[in-house]
Amino acid sequence: MEEQRKQVIFSAIQPSGTITLGNYLGALKNWVALQDEYDCIFSLADLHTITVRQDPAKFRKNALEAYALLLACGIDPQKSIFFIQSHVSAHAELAWVLNCYTQFGELSRMTQFKDKSAKHADNINAGLFAYPSLMAADILLYQADLVPVGADQKQHLELTRNVAERFNAAYSPTFTVPDGYIPKQGARIMSLQDPTSKMSKSDENANGFIAMLDSPDVIMRKFKRAVTDSDACVRYAEGKDGVNNLMGIYACVTGKTMEEIEREFEGRGYGDFKTAVGEAVVEHLRPIQERFSQYIADKAYLEACYRDGAARAARIANRTLAKVMKKIGFLPG
Ligand code: TRP
Repeated sequence: MEEQRKQVIFSAIQPSGTITLGNYLGALKNWVALQDEYDCIFSLADLHTITVRQDPAKFRKNALEAYALLLACGIDPQKSIFFIQSHVSAHAELAWVLNCYTQFGELSRMTQFKDKSAKHADNINAGLFAYPSLMAADILLYQADLVPVGADQKQHLELTRNVAERFNAAYSPTFTVPDGYIPKQGARIMSLQDPTSKMSKSDENANGFIAMLDSPDVIMRKFKRAVTDSDACVRYAEGKDGVNNLMGIYACVTGKTMEEIEREFEGRGYGDFKTAVGEAVVEHLRPIQERFSQYIADKAYLEACYRDGAARAARIANRTLAKVMKKIGFLPG
């Protein structure tokens, strides 16, 4: 029997600042798990990052560290294609083309654009506005079948689908219309200080997030300060956002179910519980942090890895881009 072609998965993360436990448990851990079953293409979306002004030296450092950290988390460059977006010029080129097939009104309706322009009122640049076209280019260049995205990116994926369908209808089938991929075990990790909002690396209060490279002391301290409630009972229930979040984190890193966790902490206070969550996270991150130290010390390996990733990505991306240019009617060069 002929082997069925594996479905293609594309996803990306921005190398802006530190990557958090929320990014890891919510996205990266799932990426790692998908690598055997799918043809995975993962990218560091550094072109997206300059929609917010970056300090050049820090930006460069963040990108390299993010690349090393993703390898340390288990992204395997033998199984998957793992590259840096700015190294494959087809992304910027297709993004321009797609801008011309996307309506001003559609982009104006994006809630992320509205949020971000409120947050960076002094720098509402055209890149921030056209951000979804670049994201659509990322996905469509690889003819991705599935795209794992969080709730905050769903609207962008919907726009990607619309633009792909529009282009296919105007010319002929060119792009695979991607579906969202909802992980079997979805984890939405919230801020430790405000458990009604998502854990974010741009949180002004560093106690709200755990950075993947935080030291064990810092991790323990942040969990000890985590917001809970006055109920003093480890129980998963509506209205107990802080406790629910800590239970969610504990479940993710230990593989225990909510019921098992409730039983484990029956009759015990939040102090014990927070210590246990902190220790479990420290142990879970320890091997990742060790691997990170090894990778980041080996610049030559990292360089070889991302160059190879970019070369493999570019072969696929350039094929799609060439088709697009031809269909539109650009004179071949
Ligand atoms: N915009 C995404 C984020 O900030 C990152 C991203 C860029 C992405 N291109 C993508 C995600 C393509 C999925 C597919 O989280």
